Amino acid sequence: MHRFHRKGGKLYAEGVNLDSLADRLGTPLYVYSAGTILDHYRRLRGAMRAVDPLICYSVKANSNLAVLSLLARAGSGFDVVSGGELERVRKAGGKIAKCVFAGVGKTDEEIEAGLRYGVKAFHVESEEELERIALVAGRKKGRRAPVSLRVNPDVEAGGHAKITTGTYANKFGIPYELVAAAYRRYAGDRRLKLVGIQMHIGSQITRSAPFRAAVRKMIPLVERLRDRHGLEYFDLGGGVGIVYEDALASGRDGWWKSPKAERAMTLAEYATSIIPMLRALKMEILLEPGRFLVGNAGVLVAEVLYRKQTGKKHFTVIDAGMNDLVRPAMYEAYHQIESVEKPRPGAISTDIVGPVCESGDVFGHDRALSPLERGDRVAIFSAGAYGFSMASSYNTRPRPAEVLVSGTKAKVIRKRETVADLWRGEKKS
Ligand code: LLP
Repeated sequence: MHRFHRKGGKLYAEGVNLDSLADRLGTPLYVYSAGTILDHYRRLRGAMRAVDPLICYSVKANSNLAVLSLLARAGSGFDVVSGGELERVRKAGGKIAKCVFAGVGKTDEEIEAGLRYGVKAFHVESEEELERIALVAGRKKGRRAPVSLRVNPDVEAGGHAKITTGTYANKFGIPYELVAAAYRRYAGDRRLKLVGIQMHIGSQITRSAPFRAAVRKMIPLVERLRDRHGLEYFDLGGGVGIVYEDALASGRDGWWKSPKAERAMTLAEYATSIIPMLRALKMEILLEPGRFLVGNAGVLVAEVLYRKQTGKKHFTVIDAGMNDLVRPAMYEAYHQIESVEKPRPGAISTDIVGPVCESGDVFGHDRALSPLERGDRVAIFSAGAYGFSMASSYNTRPRPAEVLVSGTKAKVIRKRETVADLWRGEKKS
């Protein structure tokens, strides 16, 4: 089913007309499709059913309470990276026993919270952190901290330099060669319980080869540690990529194949490339998808303010800025942009830019779009992951409202911020 689609030329999220929604709630506006999120969750589980994985949704991708509770009700666990995300999962009614706690810089307070609430495990990123967790757990007599080491398998996964994580050139994980010794060192420690092992090789990975290579490299190590220390699970991390090009037209919610896009792996290819190796392990398998579940389940709707022609270029200024969706400015990320109303005949080539005082505040260069006028709306696609969760109030711009659509129902799941919200806690001198 196409959850973002055109009907009579007009853009819809499920059964809800996006232009009417923007009339009612204003712009910029994040709109998510609940059906798409659930569909992606089920498809991933379905593709991997041979190993019956526990899916721990990576909260950082989109941490709205409504998104978390939707996934919690579907049975999802969670991957959190801060005390704040842990509180969100609790607030949303997620099961903390299905929650893994990652991050390179956990504070004592965060470790204590994880212990108190009973996370499934801490994903540990350095030996110093392991020592710290042991120390904090030691103060709480009788409570062993469940820990798994995050292994850096040193596999090149491609993608943008700022989101690759699985090589020795970045800060994540413990080097592959040092992992076994670290487990051995803490094997008899009564303050810790060694429960699993984790890896994460990067984000927006659209080929199966890096996953296969990383799993293949990890298997002998995982087997050895399973036998030696009784590890219960192997967590493969997240990183399954989505199609950003042509997200609307490609069908199936645009999450895999697109005739225009470079061919991305299908979910079946991802699964079949790793399942045989995983089955043989006979361990619990965890996955930490973020973008895959929510990326193509959201759009950012914005309104055209002005058009202008400089000596060289045509610009369309919209009311959403890089503070609302930073991915194009930060990663040169491509997001498809479409007119919300029925496209007018003809096409112009234009740069879609925001109002923020930065040259980098550009959503798309030289886009061929139907001619737009003041008051027209555009939808920026694939904005469900790392959109609102990375939004800021730079230029004292209140963050957008968020809406969750389910069938013909649209629910505001976060009110638009006000300027007064932004200076809450400040004092005049
Ligand atoms: N697990 C770990 C340990 C992670 O570090 C991440 C993402 C995930 C899971 C989820 O990855 P996903 O399935 O979403 O690829 N802001 C960037 C992406 C940063 C990803 C950080 N880690 C972007 O907008 O592209």
